[in-house]
Order: sequence, then structure tokens, then C-alpha cells
Amino acid sequence: MGFFIGPRRRFGNVGKWNHAHLLGMRYLEKKDIEYLVKRGNDFREFLESSPRSFQRLKGYLLVNFFFEPSTRTRTSFEIAGKLLGMDVVNVDVEVSSLRKGESLRDTIRTLGRLKPDILVIRHHQSGVPEYLAEFSPFHIVNAGDGLREHPTQALLDLLTLYRQFNRLTGLRVAIVGDILHSRVARSLIMGLRKMESEVVVSGPPTLVPSEVETLGVQRIFPVEEAIRGVDVVYLLRIQRERQETGYFPSFREYGVFFGLHTLPKDKERGTFLMHPGPVNRGLELDYALVEGERSLIEEQVACGLAIRMAVLETLVRGEDL
Ligand code: CP
Repeated sequence: MGFFIGPRRRFGNVGKWNHAHLLGMRYLEKKDIEYLVKRGNDFREFLESSPRSFQRLKGYLLVNFFFEPSTRTRTSFEIAGKLLGMDVVNVDVEVSSLRKGESLRDTIRTLGRLKPDILVIRHHQSGVPEYLAEFSPFHIVNAGDGLREHPTQALLDLLTLYRQFNRLTGLRVAIVGDILHSRVARSLIMGLRKMESEVVVSGPPTLVPSEVETLGVQRIFPVEEAIRGVDVVYLLRIQRERQETGYFPSFREYGVFFGLHTLPKDKERGTFLMHPGPVNRGLELDYALVEGERSLIEEQVACGLAIRMAVLETLVRGEDL
């Protein structure tokens, strides 16, 4: 699928993009996901060329507002905005007036008067992007909220799968690890189920709550059983920062009993490996597997830039699907 810079190409008369914000995978329909993945795929191919400047959003302003650490998401939103010709501002929470006691509501209303077009927010509290969307005069993109959602991660994961398998329907994906604390898992499960792919989840039973089955996935224990015959094993990061109470005896034991040491060999075309990053090498994943030939981890990063370009463009320009 080649990149196009001319008039918008259509791939099916399925309607218009009708979302003011990107708050979660729960709000997207299958046609929305298909649109963003295919547009992301165009950008992914465009990113291989040089020069890569693409001034489609020149004159628009993007503000990044991250309350939690990030390398991939924040940097790729900044680069995505700049490649599209946007002006980009990163707000530093530590030196903002939030540290003098200003409320988040007043902070956002203040930023609103500075006329950004899109605000990308990562926040440790679940539901903050929805709260802001109620009164923000600009587009809100959820870059991860608490334990709830991380929609651009799910979209980039779907783009990675699409590029590997040339389809998003009928795949079987095992998500392994800390499901309980994972907004990445929740968003990816919703995305894969909307695209009619199968998802199984596994890990330490204390980190794989039975409620996850309401999202249409199967819990399978032990991990070796869950990953048998899947197209992809999707490892989750052990979130040390959210492990205040013990969900497993020790990190060492987690690595031995729940970490991935080899990929299953029972699939004719082989099983691929994904991880949202950052990876705890040697804990949830063996050192060698990270850079192995079945690893899609670095391709996920490249797809992250492409999908974020697609998201920014779509929110600002509201294209036909
Ligand atoms: N996967 C992910 O969100 O990575 P960052 O925390 O580095 O943005």
C-alpha cells in the first residue's frame, strides 16, 4: 500500500470520522479502527522516504501534557506533530502552576485561552481525559490514563499486526503478565475484539482478574498453555511503580515462572513477539528474545510514530472514512 500526498483516497463508503477526541478504544467502531490503521500504514511507508516533511497541519498547535514518564508516546507525538508541520509545546508539569496548587480544571482552561488545537495528556488518574473533554475547547488525546486506557498504543499494535499478517481478523493473540494494572492490555483487548480476533490472557492468577472475561477474552493458566498455537505473544511490563502490595513472591520468581524464555514452536508460520515497552529485560522477557528475529518490538515503535500522525491528522481534519 503506497503513500499518497494528493487528494484523500477512500477505501469504502462507510461514513465520516465523527469523534472530537480520542479517549479510548471503547468509543471507536470497527470502521474507525480500520481507517486509522490504514492511514497509519500510509504514514509508515512515507516515513521510510526522505525528506519526510509533510505540511498538512501547518499552523496548528499541539500541546503535550504528561504527568507520568514516557519516552515512546511523548516523543513520537512531538515528532508526529512536527512532521505534519504543527507547532509543538511540551508542558513541564514539575514547573507548572499545578505545583503552586492550581487545579487541573483551571490549568486546562488557561491553556485553552492559548488556543492549542490538540492536547495530548497522560495522567495517573483513570478518567482524566474524559473529564477534560467535557469542557475543553480543543481536541483531547488520551496518551494513557491510570489503569484505564492507552488507545494510541492499541492502534499502533494493530498497525504492527496488520503489517505482519495483512489482516486484523481471525488472529489469536496471548497477552501475558500484569493484566490487572495494564491500560495497554485493556485497550488492545477492545481493539482486537472489535476486529474479530481472539484474545487469551495469562500470568500470575493474582494479576489476571476474572473480570477481564467481560471483555470477551479467555483466561488460561499456566502461561505455557495460553501461548500454545497463538500468532503473537504480547508480553506486558511488570509495573514496578504500581506493585505496592505483593502480587507475586518476588521479581526473581516472576522471571523464572512467568517470564518468557522461548517462543512456542507449534505454529507453522511461527509465533511473533510483541511488548509495548519499556521492557524489563530478564524479568518478563529473556534478553535474547527482545532483539530476536521473531520480535516486533522495534517495529511497534516505528508504527507508533505513524499511527500518531494518523490520529493528529484525523482529529484536526475530520476526514471522510
Ligand atoms: N508504551 C509506552 O507507552 O511507552 P512510554 O511509556 O515510553 O511512552
